[in-house]
Amino acid sequence: MIILAVESSCDETAVAVVRDGREVLADAIISQIEMHTLYGGVVPEIASRKHLTAISLLADQAIKEAGITRKDIDAVAATCAPGLIGAVLVGVNFAKAAAYALNVPFIPVHHVRGHIAANYITYPELEPPFVALCVSGGNTLIVDVRDYTDMQLIGSTRDDAAGECFDKVARVLGIGYPGGAPMDRLAQGGDDTKYHLPCAHVTDAPMDMSFSGLKTAALNLIHNAEQKGEELDLPSFAASFAKAISDTLIPRVAYAAQQTGYGKVVAAGGVAANSRIRGDLAKLCEKRGWELYLPALKLCGDNGAMIGCQGYYEYLAGVRGDLTQNGFANMDIGKAFE
Ligand code: KG4
Repeated sequence: MIILAVESSCDETAVAVVRDGREVLADAIISQIEMHTLYGGVVPEIASRKHLTAISLLADQAIKEAGITRKDIDAVAATCAPGLIGAVLVGVNFAKAAAYALNVPFIPVHHVRGHIAANYITYPELEPPFVALCVSGGNTLIVDVRDYTDMQLIGSTRDDAAGECFDKVARVLGIGYPGGAPMDRLAQGGDDTKYHLPCAHVTDAPMDMSFSGLKTAALNLIHNAEQKGEELDLPSFAASFAKAISDTLIPRVAYAAQQTGYGKVVAAGGVAANSRIRGDLAKLCEKRGWELYLPALKLCGDNGAMIGCQGYYEYLAGVRGDLTQNGFANMDIGKAFE
């Protein structure tokens, strides 16, 4: 079964062609980062307009790269939630129109379910159940993945997402947007014990997280150093910051994996590319004897292939959208599209 898959929830326009869920025939992507860098962050209205100009050309490119014709497409899938609503709606409407024109089913997909599914592409043998740590620019979730389309949110951030913290701190340091990857590079060789940054605990919620205090503490440290004319040891600051993020995530993943008893941990999302988090997850899983699955670096960020993969399993579960299918800025990962 061949799925044309569309992703437009934030600042990447992506269209992929995926066969039977796990074989990626084409994965075309256009990043808008250069444009948003001018403003130090994603400007939603600009994102929507850029998706609009890119999407149909990108779909043609993906079909060509896959070596198929439009007639070979069996279904069209698209991210319908969560994301910047104007951006999401561009992909939803394009995909609905394509499905209607081709007279094939339309499959709505939850964006973070897609991030998890990136692992099915990286590891052809991977199957649920497992615990997933989903960390990206807009989401930080711990998910009990009981089956391909049966999952439950068991932990989440109460405020900022981990990626958002990397981005804000990097912006204040002036090291680029999005800030996660440059912060990661900067941290190499730094002393992670040099700066003490806080890790918050949420009372009576052992799998929930909070990053806003860490973000404020990091920004205060930068501003105080500036005011006193002191120079920060940037590699050590970046290493200490990555340690604080990882020290918040890892114990909660450990708790979730222990509670569910699956013995299998999966990471997902843009921040899952972070070398400190990947290393700490590896240490944790080695110590506990759990299997660990980390997505290929090129599949950590937003892409169309992951939507095609999850779309396939949603299709098998009977999920279909009609022409009235809406897009949503937020949606519980455990909830199915109806
Ligand atoms: O998954 P993604 O592409 O978009 C969302 O769905 O949000 O994630 C983007 C986020 C950004 O916040 C970016 O700074 C972060 O992933 N990121 C990283 C790294 N690479 C990307 N964060 C930490 N370390 C990295 N190496």
